Amino acid sequence: MNSIETAGFIWDVGGGGEGIIGKLNGRKVIAIDIRIEELEETKNDSLKIVMDATDLKFLPSSFDVATSFFSLMYIKNKDHLKVFKEIHKILKNEGRFYIWDVRIPPKHMDKPVFVLPLEILLPNDETETGYGVGWEHKEQDLQHFKELAGKTDFKIVDEWSRDEIFYLELVKHARSTSSSPE
Ligand SMILES: C[S@@+](CC[C@H](N)C(=O)[O-])C[C@H]1O[C@@H](n2cnc3c(N)ncnc32)[C@H](O)[C@@H]1O
Repeated sequence: MNSIETAGFIWDVGGGGEGIIGKLNGRKVIAIDIRIEELEETKNDSLKIVMDATDLKFLPSSFDVATSFFSLMYIKNKDHLKVFKEIHKILKNEGRFYIWDVRIPPKHMDKPVFVLPLEILLPNDETETGYGVGWEHKEQDLQHFKELAGKTDFKIVDEWSRDEIFYLELVKHARSTSSSPE
């Protein structure tokens, strides 16, 4: 992982826990998380705010960059579309949304929790962690997020997947507001 190049703020959804985006980009990051406990245990220089990603309290067109680093896996699938709509709203035109996440297969009968063990290499840091979620109703894959991007007027500009992990880079469409003269 390398730091994100932008002149503006980076809005990080679910930025508690290890707070990787905040570790990489420090004071440029506004980390929001629905759980105060997650933000309290995060050690980085980001500005931390308790907020629900399905109901953002920022003015529209406020940010150049939004990120979700293995956070959408923690948000109920039925809320994903709302989160995409909210992120689309708070991004400026041409603003970017970077997503790292994981394919979660159908639930195994006797396994209540899906856990992703991850080794994260930053320029000056190395973190080993596990991101775990209740497995019920949590099936997801890259295609699911690409469909949400299509539904919310994001353009896909980059993507990759490695084993079960994937990355998506989305750009908010600049909508044409001018109407042709009579
Ligand atoms: C464990 S973190 C994922 C990893 C984290 N981004 C990191 O860098 O370590 C996921 C976070 O999403 C948060 N979350 C879940 N639902 C949310 C929502 N609706 N709005 C904002 N945050 C949410 C959880 O509280 C959790 O702290």
